[in-house]
Amino acid sequence: MDIKTIGVVGAGTMGGGIAQVAATAGFAVILHDLAPELLDRSLKGIDKSVSKLIEKGKITEDKAAILARIKPTTSLADFQGADFAVEAVVEDLAVKKSVLQELDRLMAPERIIVSNTSSISITRLAALTSRPGRFMGMHFMNPAPLMVLVELIKGIAATPETFAAVKALAEKMGKVTAEANDFPGFIANRVLMPLINEAVFCLMEGVGTVEAIDTVMKLGMNHPLGPLALADLIGLDICLNIMEVIHEGYQDPKYRPCPLLKKYVAAGYLGRKSGRGFYTYQPA
Ligand SMILES: NC(=O)c1ccc[n+]([C@@H]2O[C@H](COP(=O)([O-])OP(=O)(O)OC[C@H]3O[C@@H](n4cnc5c(N)ncnc54)[C@H](O)[C@@H]3O)[C@@H](O)[C@H]2O)c1
Repeated sequence: MDIKTIGVVGAGTMGGGIAQVAATAGFAVILHDLAPELLDRSLKGIDKSVSKLIEKGKITEDKAAILARIKPTTSLADFQGADFAVEAVVEDLAVKKSVLQELDRLMAPERIIVSNTSSISITRLAALTSRPGRFMGMHFMNPAPLMVLVELIKGIAATPETFAAVKALAEKMGKVTAEANDFPGFIANRVLMPLINEAVFCLMEGVGTVEAIDTVMKLGMNHPLGPLALADLIGLDICLNIMEVIHEGYQDPKYRPCPLLKKYVAAGYLGRKSGRGFYTYQPA
């Protein structure tokens, strides 16, 4: 399938990054969000990120040419002209449902729609549309312009042709893919979140301090960040939410969220974004 124009819905952390990756790879991009100021903020972020990558020599093309490929819009009707759509709105089933059904109505039936969801079942999202065979999970990592991996998640109805097309597209965007079937947490979060959760259990039980736990994993296992520092970066509310999805999905007590993680979230200690999590942070 010939893909020239990629539509991205949601211009937040992930949508902005995905739009940048697509535009840098030469695609025309339609970037949608609810209000012009959200789009402005996103475009400023993309401008800054492209400048940095040019400074580092990772991008050689002129910045203006890349940015000119991104067309911001508050009207989903513009997606009638898109050859492929990436949904990257907030992690809320009701919001995703309304966006996906609108995209499904607007876009030609042979076009593929993907979701960047971290934890909602791809099979369930696909079933909300009239094209479950041409629907997949395309899970970019944060920050999308820097992280090489894209996890490709096949819902139960996804066709081999859809998988091949999404994989080829990810590769055109300079990414390396890993294939996952649709089970709670897919691969990335199924492995990462229980690791973080176990680190919080270690802290709660007094097995080690925050610093000791992170030092063991950094220096002993060569992880670039300790699991508690990583949890602060991701957001403790997001970590808890994904653990709950995995726990609910498998009904296996080994996935129960750590009570200390729940307590931190209840206290509003959400990590970097709230200034306090396992570590404390100065406002940026
Ligand atoms: N942040 C991460 O580390 C990360 C990593 C991988 C995947 N994800 C997934 O990516 C998706 C987006 O996450 P994010 O971190 O970019 O969130 P975010 O809050 O930064 O951005 C979400 C954007 O969606 C917009 N939005 C909300 N409702 C909308 C609607 N009806 N139509 C259009 N836009 C709408 C919001 O205005 C916001 O700009 C989620 O599904 C999340 O699970 C996040």
